[in-house]
Amino acid sequence: MTADPSEPVPRDWWKSAVVYQVYPRSFMDSDGDGIGDIPGIRQRLDYLQRLGVDVLWLSPVYKSPMDDNGYDISDYYDVDPLFGTLADLDDLIADLHERGMKLVMDLVVNHTSSAHPWFQESRSSKDNPKRDWYWWRPPRPGHSPGEPGAEPTNWGSAFSESAWTFDPDTGEYYLHLFASSQPELNWENPEVRQAVYSMMNWWLDRGVDGFRMDVINLISKVVHDEPPDLRDGIRGGPDRQPGPIDTVRFGDPGPHVLHGPRVHEFLQEMHREVFAHRPPGLLTVGETPATTVEQGLLYTDPARAELQMVFQFEHVDLDSGPGGKWDLAPATSRDLIDSLAQWQEGMGEIGWNSLYLGNHDQPRCVSRFGDDSPEHRDRSAKALATVLHLLRGTPYIYQGDELGMANAPFRDINDTRDIESHNAYRAALARGQDPDAAMEAIRYKGRDNARTPMQWDASEHAGFTTGSPWLEVNPDHVTVNAAAQVNDPDSVFSHYRKLIKLRHQEPVVVHGTFTRLLRDGEDVHGYLRRLDGRELLVVANLSSKEGLEAAVPDAPTWAASELVLSNAPEPAERDRIVLGPWEARVYRRG
Ligand code: GLC
Repeated sequence: MTADPSEPVPRDWWKSAVVYQVYPRSFMDSDGDGIGDIPGIRQRLDYLQRLGVDVLWLSPVYKSPMDDNGYDISDYYDVDPLFGTLADLDDLIADLHERGMKLVMDLVVNHTSSAHPWFQESRSSKDNPKRDWYWWRPPRPGHSPGEPGAEPTNWGSAFSESAWTFDPDTGEYYLHLFASSQPELNWENPEVRQAVYSMMNWWLDRGVDGFRMDVINLISKVVHDEPPDLRDGIRGGPDRQPGPIDTVRFGDPGPHVLHGPRVHEFLQEMHREVFAHRPPGLLTVGETPATTVEQGLLYTDPARAELQMVFQFEHVDLDSGPGGKWDLAPATSRDLIDSLAQWQEGMGEIGWNSLYLGNHDQPRCVSRFGDDSPEHRDRSAKALATVLHLLRGTPYIYQGDELGMANAPFRDINDTRDIESHNAYRAALARGQDPDAAMEAIRYKGRDNARTPMQWDASEHAGFTTGSPWLEVNPDHVTVNAAAQVNDPDSVFSHYRKLIKLRHQEPVVVHGTFTRLLRDGEDVHGYLRRLDGRELLVVANLSSKEGLEAAVPDAPTWAASELVLSNAPEPAERDRIVLGPWEARVYRRG
């Protein structure tokens, strides 16, 4: 069920919406070059409409050298030929609008590609007018330029290198919190901000319906008055920010760059310059690593006019140890639910949550939080979706999760393409780590797990391409694919459809209060949603254990209530709630 395009857009439509993320490189290839493209997406809109989603979030399709698959942009005003043309994008927008769906673009403005003309100018000389559009700094005093240790600060980047790269032409370093080809824009400079706002306005005038803002909480850095104006970060230790930095080798830039002193000012300015003068109804979601509930409230409180919602990272950082992302640490379903519940309770009536378990940067959720063995895969995928989608917030579905797509069986590093994994692997080997151990972490956490081509059918390349795919298709596509699921009422796909429908039909899912139940549960979790006398009870056994009881208050009455959704056969008992492996149920009353 999607909105009727002839109706005026309700101000808060995004609260009852479900967003579907398309990673264009891996969704559908129309021209046989092995890389997905915009005409390919247009061919698959019936599928998205059948699923019932309201919004398509498109990962970057702008011109790019593709070092980070498009998150390194060299022209914000054009589409990369790999993906098609601006005219193709206009056609996609028109197609979506015709179907009552919306398009949200990725906005990557914390950094550009080093191939962007702005950076080319900036690096050309110290007195170029765009020099100050990026973060240039001289070598550390007392060190020879370019020598190890001469970096202006000890910061590590998210991609296992120093966050500084030396540019011999002008004898200075530039800052990049990701790859060296992704220099950080200097938001302190008002010209940079105005250039970003004009570009955003240009896209909105073209008809896009909002933005997903890449690492937007990194745009303000802590600048001290006295030199050195950017300061060293701490290594290791319990107080480090969670996330991808290798704090054994590098200082953690986190406290110096996350939620910097001017971030709220910049976002409020952006709101004034881009959104305030437009009709309501545009969607804004910020990607904000290392965000606490308190910060989440600041970003999303409507009274502050910043963002509608943020992607917080707490639950996807649970399985990272003190050494960073690749330092695997066990996390339980209890940890996951504790974290999600804490956000539900904390954001309350003021803020708004984005609900996600997967995206193009995370491993597949069924492999990470569920059980991707043939026995439990479908049921665990459905249980996770149930628990997530009925929370308060806007759910995001990452392409393929609605089929239960799982992590890929990468044999070795040559099977992967991601710059993050390649850099991490190289760094691990340089530290003397065993290649198998390094690969184990990449197999579990590597981003290419989510980037294997979409599994449309059981044919050779899963119906994704007639050519040779840029990243191998997961061999399990012979059984796990869209063609096998769209018309099967018991499939993972159909379960997602039902969840989306429930959100569209039940105001309690959108606006109801949240109450955590079974707070001490190790495997069985539950919560209650309530609105005007209507109640929904969600219970799930997030384990493969048999016969676990959900001892919720008032269980006998609930057990006899209307069962609106479940991922298992009709329960035999009507006076207790006893759940089989990965069983999830939704009861309704009132
Ligand atoms: C965000 C993107 C990720 C990218 C990084 C740098 O985290 O989601 O894919 O590598 O920013 O742009």
